Amino acid sequence: MESQHAQRKNEHISLAEKLYGISHQNHPFDGVRIIHQSLPELSIQDVTLTSALTETIQLSAPFYIEAMTGGSELSLKLNQQLARIAADCDLAMACGSQSVALKHPDGIDSFRVLRQENPNGVLIANISAAASPEQVKTVVQMIDANAVELHLNVAQELVMPEGERSFRWLDNINEIVQRTDVPVIVKEVGFGMSQETIQQLINTGVKNINVSGRGGTNFARIENRRNHENDFDDLADWGQTTPESLLESQRFQKEAHVIASGGIVTPLDVIKCGNLGAQAVGVAGYFLNKLIREGDDALIQTINNWRVEIERVLLLCGCRQFNELTKVPHVLSNELQSYFEQRNTR
Ligand code: FNR
Repeated sequence: MESQHAQRKNEHISLAEKLYGISHQNHPFDGVRIIHQSLPELSIQDVTLTSALTETIQLSAPFYIEAMTGGSELSLKLNQQLARIAADCDLAMACGSQSVALKHPDGIDSFRVLRQENPNGVLIANISAAASPEQVKTVVQMIDANAVELHLNVAQELVMPEGERSFRWLDNINEIVQRTDVPVIVKEVGFGMSQETIQQLINTGVKNINVSGRGGTNFARIENRRNHENDFDDLADWGQTTPESLLESQRFQKEAHVIASGGIVTPLDVIKCGNLGAQAVGVAGYFLNKLIREGDDALIQTINNWRVEIERVLLLCGCRQFNELTKVPHVLSNELQSYFEQRNTR
């Protein structure tokens, strides 16, 4: 019999799959149009896909498998599949929250499998921003991680009847940043970030920020479905989309390393994230669904296609590498432009 914690993880996986697509009816990246140029003056050999996850961690592609699973038998199987694919495709991978393995050590194997299957790849540990610095050290060691993500999931916790109700995290985040040997990335879980939050994180010493915006997997909806007696659907549209969050981050992009995730479903979305200033892009729900619905080979094929298409669009944009995309002009939809102006004139 699996623990309540492990069962919750299984429900997240099945609901993320079941509800998949509902959030994508409105694709926030449609609000960003990159302006075509007819003379890139480059050839494909000039273009490299490398990107930087943090100042010290280089990736062979600008996208990676974002944090999802671990802690149950089902997630052991999924993590094994994902880790093999990450190794095959030389893609970085973050694991789901490891707090379940701290409480129930029988769940450790579902995380350790990531390093066993992918001895040389870039792996990112994951735990709540409420974790102690010692717990962060333990989860990093558990998978010999290259970096660690601290997730901020206030909206998700509040929708859960059994969730946390107290969130005083900044001092703790500061201590973790000071005491952790690998780069620390602070990430949302699909509700996006504001410039105020980003400023607070930077003031706290955080250098890597994953804005993880609305538009893809929606934990307000998922938790609501898990708890039928609960009716907290108001939060289904809560938060900033990923393009909005990246616009929020723009004035801080020299001080912090900004990463995007949330609602990424095409290689062009990855390009648009780069255009709005993201240095790397995490993909969770879309890859999970591909894997569950169509299998390993389909996901590998998708990843390989994304690499080819991103390389070609970089050429089309006249960029030798991903971090040059910010110089490419774009036009924003009226809605996004209005959002940007209102948030920058206050
Ligand atoms: C997640 N996500 C997540 N994030 C995190 O930091 N720790 C976690 O344990 C989990 N667990 C989790 C489970 C499942 C099944 C999914 C689909 C997602 C959130 C994820 O990393 C990401 O921030 C959001 O899902 C938004 O990205 P997508 O799914 O729209 O690409």
